Amino acid sequence: MAEEGTHGAQAEPWVAAAEDSLTVTDNRTGETYVVPITEGTVKAMDFRQMKTGEGDFGLMTYDPAFTNTAHCRSQICYIDGDQGVLEYRGHPIEQLCDQSTHLEVAYLLLHGELPTKEQLDYWVYVVTHHTFVHENIKRSMEAFRYDAHPMGMLLSTVGALSTFYPAAKNLDDETEHWMAITRLIAKMPTLAAFAYRHNLGLPYVYPDNDLSYAGNFLSMLYNINEPRYQPDPRLERALDVLWILHADHEQNCSTAAVRAVGSSRVDPYSAVAAGVAALYGPLHGGANEAVLRMLERIGSVENIPAFLQGVKERKEKLMGFGHRVYKNYDPRARIIKKHVDEVLEAVGMDNPKLEIAVELEKRALDDEFFTERKLYPNVDFYSGLIYEALSIPTDMFTVMFAIPRTAGWLAQWHEMLEDPETKIARPRQVYTGARERDYVPLDQR
Ligand code: ACO
Repeated sequence: MAEEGTHGAQAEPWVAAAEDSLTVTDNRTGETYVVPITEGTVKAMDFRQMKTGEGDFGLMTYDPAFTNTAHCRSQICYIDGDQGVLEYRGHPIEQLCDQSTHLEVAYLLLHGELPTKEQLDYWVYVVTHHTFVHENIKRSMEAFRYDAHPMGMLLSTVGALSTFYPAAKNLDDETEHWMAITRLIAKMPTLAAFAYRHNLGLPYVYPDNDLSYAGNFLSMLYNINEPRYQPDPRLERALDVLWILHADHEQNCSTAAVRAVGSSRVDPYSAVAAGVAALYGPLHGGANEAVLRMLERIGSVENIPAFLQGVKERKEKLMGFGHRVYKNYDPRARIIKKHVDEVLEAVGMDNPKLEIAVELEKRALDDEFFTERKLYPNVDFYSGLIYEALSIPTDMFTVMFAIPRTAGWLAQWHEMLEDPETKIARPRQVYTGARERDYVPLDQR
């Protein structure tokens, strides 16, 4: 039982299970409240009952950028930033990168279980047979300016897909969910490759259904008048691994955008377009480009000590190091690093930036400034080098990220729809503006 002057945020059993609760005294009123703790969290709504009097709205929590607010319960992606652990549906990222493919991982994210052989064959078959886009989609992409940013093209074209598949609005129809999921995963590489070819002034290449998901993408990028483009298996695998690594990363900015926009029950094409828009921003998808620029500026291995000194004096930032969540080696960086050499060998390129990157990492990891602050390489430290080796221009980097992240966005969107706790996302604000001001006619201002 709650003591006198003590309010249980919920009735039994929370008040009785004192060890799973928080006791809060509101010093404005002297009242004490018992707030239940479940799964390491307290409910923000449990604070609303804490009022100074009748007309008081009640206490709210203030958390700009949601740095300490869980906005959903999810079973898709687990991260332990201190230990450097990343798991999809409980499967370690290292095992998936070693043994799986991006499409199998997409299935895992969406369904929660690895597919059987029959399920995987069917999934690969249906995705492969939805890679073509309506000719009017192709024409609408052709209408962009010759130098249109490929991510801007992708963003608007993904939104436009909703007009080609109006039945996707029917969110009560589970079959429509899966049609939209399949179409988006299948068509995203096609749209990305069309945007790439557009910038180069080259004709768009139609999908080749006899190639793998990654192999077909390479064909749509690079095929010049060959009856059948044969992707180098090393490039195909490196790209597929990069896509596994980028498939999901729990409640990041773009995923939170997909969930928030999707919570209005808009169609999934529009919700995913919101994710693409969020990823377009330099604070989200653009760090690998900054790493390449930094390596270019350093120029040679001899300049590394001076550069690191500049970082310590806070004149520079070591791009590709540090992470909001990982306070250990980003497990994705370790995996990418293994593939850089292979890709450079496949394209017959000796990139001097790789030598600088490897030495820079070694020296930084030997330096107290970085170790004390738990600054380790993140996923972007090496991914730009792979894209550069694949002749992918920096403007395309966020597009390359959007292709695999589509699987994660859709898994999270589907989970949100099925969650009985889902309501339209509608945060509160702390109003700090003026009140009750009279309108002043224009000639009197
Ligand atoms: N180079 C030099 N110092 C750094 C770096 C860095 N890359 N990152 C953090 N620090 C320092 C900070 O100056 C701070 O030092 P102080 O305590 O002496 O003031 C300390 O390390 C802690 O850093 P915070 O800024 O508190 O870390 P936060 O978690 O807010 O930032 C972030 C994380 C934004 C990723 C940051 O590490 C950074 O800017 N890194 C470089 C950019 C980058 O690589 N971004 C890609 C992230 S991965 C992704 O988004 C897919």
